Amino acid sequence: MTTTDPVGTPVARLDAREKVTGTARYAYEQPSANPAYAWPVLSTIARGTITKIDTSAAEELDGVLDVLTHENAPKLADTSDREYAILTDDEVNFRGQIIGAVVAQTAEIARQGADLVRVEYAEQMHKTALDPDSDELYTPESVTTGQPADTDEGDVDAAMEAAPVTIDATYTTPMEHNNPMEPHAVTALWHKEPKDGVRLLLHDSTQGVHSVQTAVAPVLGLKPEELHVVNPYVGGGFGSKGMPHAHDILASMAAMSVPGRPVKLALTRQAMFALTGHRTPTIQRLRLGAREDGTLRAIGHDVVEHTARIKEFIEQTAVITRTMYSAPNRRTSHRIAPLDVPIPFWMRAPGETPGSFALESAMDELAVACGIDPIELRRRNEPDVDPETGLPWADRRLLECLDEGARRFGWAERDPRVGVRRDGEWLSGTGVASATYPHFAAGGTQAEVEWDGEKYAVRLGASDLGTGTWTALSQIAAEALGCPLDQVHLQIGDSEFPKAAGAGGSAGLTTWGSTVVAAARAFREQHGDDPAEGARAEAKMPEDTVDPDFAQHSFGAQFAEVAVNAYTGEIRVPRMFGVFSIGRVINPRTTRSQLIGGMTMGLSMALHEHTVMDDRLGLIVTHDLADYHVAANADVVDIDAVTIGEADPRASAMGSRGVGEIGIVGAAAAIANAVYHATGVRVRDLPITPDRLI
Ligand code: MOS
Repeated sequence: MTTTDPVGTPVARLDAREKVTGTARYAYEQPSANPAYAWPVLSTIARGTITKIDTSAAEELDGVLDVLTHENAPKLADTSDREYAILTDDEVNFRGQIIGAVVAQTAEIARQGADLVRVEYAEQMHKTALDPDSDELYTPESVTTGQPADTDEGDVDAAMEAAPVTIDATYTTPMEHNNPMEPHAVTALWHKEPKDGVRLLLHDSTQGVHSVQTAVAPVLGLKPEELHVVNPYVGGGFGSKGMPHAHDILASMAAMSVPGRPVKLALTRQAMFALTGHRTPTIQRLRLGAREDGTLRAIGHDVVEHTARIKEFIEQTAVITRTMYSAPNRRTSHRIAPLDVPIPFWMRAPGETPGSFALESAMDELAVACGIDPIELRRRNEPDVDPETGLPWADRRLLECLDEGARRFGWAERDPRVGVRRDGEWLSGTGVASATYPHFAAGGTQAEVEWDGEKYAVRLGASDLGTGTWTALSQIAAEALGCPLDQVHLQIGDSEFPKAAGAGGSAGLTTWGSTVVAAARAFREQHGDDPAEGARAEAKMPEDTVDPDFAQHSFGAQFAEVAVNAYTGEIRVPRMFGVFSIGRVINPRTTRSQLIGGMTMGLSMALHEHTVMDDRLGLIVTHDLADYHVAANADVVDIDAVTIGEADPRASAMGSRGVGEIGIVGAAAAIANAVYHATGVRVRDLPITPDRLI
């Protein structure tokens, strides 16, 4: 056997033809006989109780099959997670909450029926504005990733007093929303009689079939194996599809009224803004105290952000500051406001993304204050070991990324003076920022390999969010099996396959790949290179895969050039360039796409993304792509990313680390720093809209 498509080659997506010809079937498009359609009824107040819900007009509409409300909905077996406990009582906890559903012969009839449901409420006072002086602020037990909410080492206040150069500034980032191309959608079918033990089938647009199985089955009173979840193709998620949301429960409930018949439910873009998570707004006080030479004596990062009253989600905004730079006095904190808002959730590099905006902007301010080049400033504060844990770095290449980026971006020619480069109406400037993202790998994932006489079937419940899993995981399998790529028959996206962690924390391919390599090795050990037809082997990763003796993180450097119109404040981004150290590259083509995708999302954060809440109504006003602006192709002219470094054998069997999230980290700060360099205006509140510059 020969290896013709090993890891490291830029294989084009194996699913490209299906994607561009429209034959790749997404959750809503699964061909199914005689489908019915569900449309949610959403609350139009932010807090209160439903006093009356009149469904009679909806029920009389021709083509309506059922109308669900809290008064008649099937009882849920487990209501402990209040995001999933829909239609259980008359309470309204945020605007846009699911309070009913209409099931009908067509989506149009279901939608019209939902419009005909008349709801009366007893409204209560709600609060959706983030107020840093609120007496409701509390300290959570931990942030979402499990680290403590606060850390304190040395004496930041005293060190700030004593430091000759200090930065003490407040940065804010707004509420933001994930907008994957494919809206959240699900097709649910209750079998009339269990089929192979399965009672409910969900075609779900999710980042993890087993995550859905594990979360949804107990809510519905099913054993996990009674719930079958399928997701061969997913049109993006960015974290918002990392766990199921209330609409998955609603579709499952709605399908109970028409057993044997699939029920389709697709959230509208507007409904997604209340039902599929968002990034909390943040208010971040960043303090840096340094000697004249720029060496840091104190770093303080204090964050105020929100969560929903009914379910806690704590973005780990200050965690990045614990490991990025060395200083003897360091302090971080998270204070949380419980509000009557939809439930916040993962959005690409949760924590690192807003946190890096504050930290990397403040470092730029310190460089200016000390009169030191911002790359040199970072060099002077490079920690020998992880400042937080004291552990040695597994593969810290931040300075290499900065130096390589500086060389390729042309940083050496940069004139540090601000506001002096002008071409007609346009001022120009450049900025830099560091990036980092922790290495994660989820334990317990399983995979199996089977030889069918012609191909190796490689099976596990992995997902492809559009990121290239079909391709890259096939490459990993081919290398591990020592066979050509076309002899691998990858089978993913189905909960009937061996149980796998979902895509999240940039750990998908790392986790699945290591497991596939283990299964392939087991196969070759047991069956050699000339296996009998039907030969198979399996593997399960240990529960704990992270090396406790090393601090494992990826690193990167973000460079941006901006042009700012001196009269209108319009900001253009002619150039972005990123250098990233992510271990071994599995597929250079899909890796580059992930990185420049992340950088583009960072540009989007810097200049556009802003969820506007009308606090009087508790209403998200910018709830579609007309009002919630995301960067498009025309927003960036020249964008590129390269990788440096080599295989990191501690991170995974392939030597790779994750690549999904680090591309967004620091990108917004690089742009904000470039805007400062161009104009002399330091914008500490995102997004950087023209009105902030004139
Ligand atoms: Mo990612 S925000 O961990 O799906």
